[in-house]
Formats: sequence, C-alpha cells, structure tokens
Amino acid sequence: MVGATVFSAALVAAAQVVLATPVARSGYSLKDSHNVPRGWAKVKRAPADHVMQIQIGLKQSNFAELERQLYQGTSMLVSDPEHPKYGQHLSADEVKELVKPTKETTELVHEWLSENGIMPSYNSAKDWITVNLPVSKIESLLDTEYHIFEHKDGAKVARAPSWFLPNHLHDHIDTIQPTNSFFRARAQASDAFVDVGILTDPNLKHYPTSSGIGAVCNTSSVTPQCFETLYKTKGYKPRSTDKNKVAFTNYLGEHPIRSDGELFLEKFRPEYVSVAQTFPQYVIADGPGDGPITDGESHEANLDFQAIAGINPRTPIISYSTGGSPPFTPSNSTPTNTNEPYLVWVNWLLEQKSIPQVISTSYSDDEQTVPASYARRVCQQFAQVGARGTTLLFSSGDAGVGPYGECVSNDGLGTDKFLPDFPPSCPYITSVGATKNFEPEVVAYRPAFVGSDGVAHGNYTSGGGFSNIFEIPPYQKKEVTNYVKNLKGEYDGWYNKKGRAYPDIAAQGLYFAYFYNGKEGTISGTSASTPLTAGIISLKPLGFLNPWLYSEGYKGLNDVTEGSAVGCGVDGFPAVKGWDPVTGLGTPDFPKLVKLAGAKL
Ligand SMILES: *[C@@H]1O[C@H](CO)[C@@H](O)[C@H](O)[C@H]1NC(C)=O
Ligand SMILES: *[C@@H]1O[C@H](CO)[C@@H](O)[C@H](O)[C@H]1NC(C)=O
Repeated sequence: MVGATVFSAALVAAAQVVLATPVARSGYSLKDSHNVPRGWAKVKRAPADHVMQIQIGLKQSNFAELERQLYQGTSMLVSDPEHPKYGQHLSADEVKELVKPTKETTELVHEWLSENGIMPSYNSAKDWITVNLPVSKIESLLDTEYHIFEHKDGAKVARAPSWFLPNHLHDHIDTIQPTNSFFRARAQASDAFVDVGILTDPNLKHYPTSSGIGAVCNTSSVTPQCFETLYKTKGYKPRSTDKNKVAFTNYLGEHPIRSDGELFLEKFRPEYVSVAQTFPQYVIADGPGDGPITDGESHEANLDFQAIAGINPRTPIISYSTGGSPPFTPSNSTPTNTNEPYLVWVNWLLEQKSIPQVISTSYSDDEQTVPASYARRVCQQFAQVGARGTTLLFSSGDAGVGPYGECVSNDGLGTDKFLPDFPPSCPYITSVGATKNFEPEVVAYRPAFVGSDGVAHGNYTSGGGFSNIFEIPPYQKKEVTNYVKNLKGEYDGWYNKKGRAYPDIAAQGLYFAYFYNGKEGTISGTSASTPLTAGIISLKPLGFLNPWLYSEGYKGLNDVTEGSAVGCGVDGFPAVKGWDPVTGLGTPDFPKLVKLAGAKL
C-alpha cells in the first residue's frame, strides 16, 4: 500500500514538472544532415535579412494505408472484378483524410511556431506548412547557419546542410526545406536541336524492311506516323475525351511555343492544328506564361507538347509551368522560393478537384543531391496523385548508370558509385527509359559526336539503376531480385541491390522529328520517350500502372534485350530477356495492353 502511494505521488510530481515546463522548450538535437554534393562550394554566410519561403512537412497520419491502397488499386482492378472498389480510385478528400496529420502533431508544431511568433499557413490536407521568414529567424528556429553555396556552373543557393529541432518535434516533422536539399531539376533532352541534314552519327542505321514499319520509320527522323505504326495505336479512337486529360510539366522557365506546335501538327496531324492554338497553359508559382521565348529556351517544353499531340491529338492536353529555383539574389527582400519546384507543383495539383489521368515529367537530378527525408516526402506526395487514379511518368535520365566522370558517392568518402536519378527512383511513379531502331528496338545509345555544324553532342544512353533511398517495392521484387542474381556479382559495390530499380517501361527516344523556332529538326532523350508514352497511355488511361505492369501488363510490352545502360565509363547494366534497369519491361504493344486491361476490367 505504502509503496503504491509513494509511486503514484511520484507520478503526480513528475506530471507537474512536465506541466510546469512547456514541452515546446525541450532541448534541440540534430534532425537531419546531408553532405554537400560534389560541384557545390561554400561561399559565405547568407545575409540575415534574406527572406525565404520555408516548407514544413508534417508527419502524415496514415500514409501506410494510402500506400496499401495504391499498390492494391490496379491489381485489384485486374484481379477482382467483384471487389466493391473495383474500378474506383480514391477521391481528393479520401486522400486528404489519409495523409492529414494527427491532432497531436498539428498542435505541437503549431504551438512551436506560435511561440516563435510565426503564423503558419496550411495546405488543405494540413500536412504542409508554408511560411516566409528572414534567414536570421530560420537560423534560430532550426538552430543552424545558412551559407551561400555556389555550383561550378554558377548557380547560387542559400542552404544549411545540418539542421536541428526541439526533441519533442522530431517524430512530428518529416522535413523542412530549403535546408539541406541541393536538388535542381534538369531537363533530360540530350540533343537540344539537331538539323536533320547535319547528322553525322556513325551508329545510325536505317532499317528499310518489307513490313509497314519500314515504309514509315527512318531512324534519322522518327515521326508520329512511325510511332503509331510501331506501337500499333493507329486507328484507335480514345474514349471519354470529354473527361480525360493528359498533361506535361515544365520547369526552369520553360513553356511550349504554340507556333512551333502548329507547324508540327500541320506537317504530321494537319486535321488537329487547332490543338496547338488552344491547349491551356497553367502558370504556377510565377512560372512563365504563354508568350515569346529567348532563342535557345524551351526545347523540352516544345518536345513534350509535340510528342504527346503527335500520337494522341484528341485527348485534351494541359501544360503546367512551375516557377521556383530562381537564381539567388542576396539583396532581394521579397520571399524567394528556392525549393526544388516539384513539391510546389505537386502540392498545387493535389489542391485541384479534378486532375489529369496521365502526367509526363522529363526533369530529374542525381538522387544524392536530395536528403532522404525530403525525397521520401516528395515521393509520398506523388503517391497521393497516383491514388487518385493518375499515371505519373518520369523520364529515367540520359546517362545510363551515371554521367561519365561524375560517378562518385556523396558519402563523404568519395566512393565510386553509379548515380541513380530522383524522381525516377520513387516507387510510386512509373519511370520511362528509351529505345532506338526498329525490328528490333534496342537500348537508346548514341556516343558523343560533333555534328557537321561543329556542335558537340555528349554521350546519351537510356538511364537506369537502383535507388539508394527507396527500398525495392513489392510489385517488382521478383523481377529485380532475379535480374540481380543473373548479374552474378558484376558491378557489386556500385549499386544498391535492395533499392527500387527503374525504369519500368520504355519507348523510342532518339531523333524525334520536331519543330523549334520555326525550323524542323530532331531531338533525343528519355525526355522524348516519356511524353510519347504519356500520349499512348492517355489513349486508354489505367491509373497507377506499376503493380499491374509487373503482374499482368508486361505481356502487352515488347521486351528489349539488346544494349546496356552505358555510363560511368563502363558498359553498365545490360538489357536482358524480361525486366532490366535500362528499358524496364519493354515498349508498348498497344492493342495487347488494351486487351489485357479490358479483358479483366
Ligand atoms: C531516312 O532519312 C534520311 C535523312 O532524311 C535520308 O537520307 C534517307 O534516305 C532516309 N532513308 C529511308 C530508307 O527512307
Ligand atoms: C563519352 O564516354 C566515353 C567513355 O564511354 C568517354 O571517353 C568520353 O569522354 C565521353 N564523352 C563525353 C563528351 O562525356
């Protein structure tokens, strides 16, 4: 009895102590730290009065359930027509409910900010907070110091590679940026523009054959007429063009040029020229609107529009141009958003009631420029788009296993490593590699060459690899484990055998016919294969594809078995029978895909 009394008295005392000392005053400890990636040098302290827009990612209450539903969604559609959720995707509100932080999380973080005199502004799911603060204030809030870092290409950002939080908040906040992310979106277009007449590519092969493909396909300038014959979409009438939409995203100040889209459609889809005049261009976070461009800009955006419209001009097309990552201007006292812009775009998209069924993105960066905590949260935002029934496609990169001369780990030790790209390494999106040639298609590879106009073009190979952040997802475990086993130890130590591996699928990606600045030429890259794939899939949208692709849909793909992910000065992962980290499960055989999907839907 006595013991028990003493014990509860002690509890009461302890509780009073806790109450007397507000939890918000708990000590600080390191929350996250990330090595400064190669190529960046610390210059000086960031000016104290420089105002930045800070994003705080609160822990989501039930992401595990969202992931479960996402992974089950399409396989459910395919395997169990009797299931009550058959053919359904989550609504915007259902998604928000799953990611909404717990009351405890919201209250603790809110309390911490208000005690610091900060009025937070929330997104509608309440899992992200945005605040504009001067550097001095962020420094005291995160117990850190911001410095200006300069990239060897001249770009400048204000960053804090390590940052701290009160102990009691560690489990309630996933990430705060910009702090230690050095990510920058890079367009994956390998040849900005090559005149058809000036190709001197020694590896180029023409394949005149007796089949229909030989009549319309020419490797030196691949047209929509070739794609529709090769992937057998010709004559397919997309359904629900009053409801479905297909979109592409632009960053780095890019936006598509309508007059070039018109020239392209006049030549290849003359009955749909008006599409180029009328497709909407959404401007997000001060991105560029419709209007003139400086010569040399917007190759990627032009390509994206033309690749989609060439293969499917009937489903309405949308262009999203997101601002962000502007050059650092120290004298600027207006808030600058120097986050990587995906988060800005995806959080904007998630606020919309209705979103496109297919969205193509051709921008990525080395995965190791992003802290894992941040990559995970951005990837989780993509999962929410997938759970709403949208196919998100990302290009797999243009440098095989990694860019020549840059394949060094960010581990601080300088270990040689292949360099996977983010976001293609995110398991909640579908990553697209590239092929070239016809009958058979092989891995897109084009060694560096100098055109007859004297312009140098670097090495280009379909990108692929294994994430160092994301674990191998269940839907591809069998294929990836099997692939790794068959490598028999080759490249051991250069990659993470347990990582999410990409790409998932592939399509043509060398010398696309396209128009830029009034002239016809060609352009190459997984930047080309990705919008092409988006156009094909938008003919028959299927939602988040991966679980279905690996379990069933692969039967509707042409397996690519020749070539490899050349990069880092080695041949890289070879394409093999079945899945491989260069061309994924293969390229579309559209009627087969439709049949496989339709048969079970
Ligand atoms: C393919 O295109 C190139 C360049 O336009 C041309 O020189 C060549 O004759 C074409 N090949 C075939 C088989 O049509
Ligand atoms: C292309 O890759 C080869 C090795 O595969 C390398 O020798 C060459 O320097 C690379 N060229 C460029 C422009 O990076």
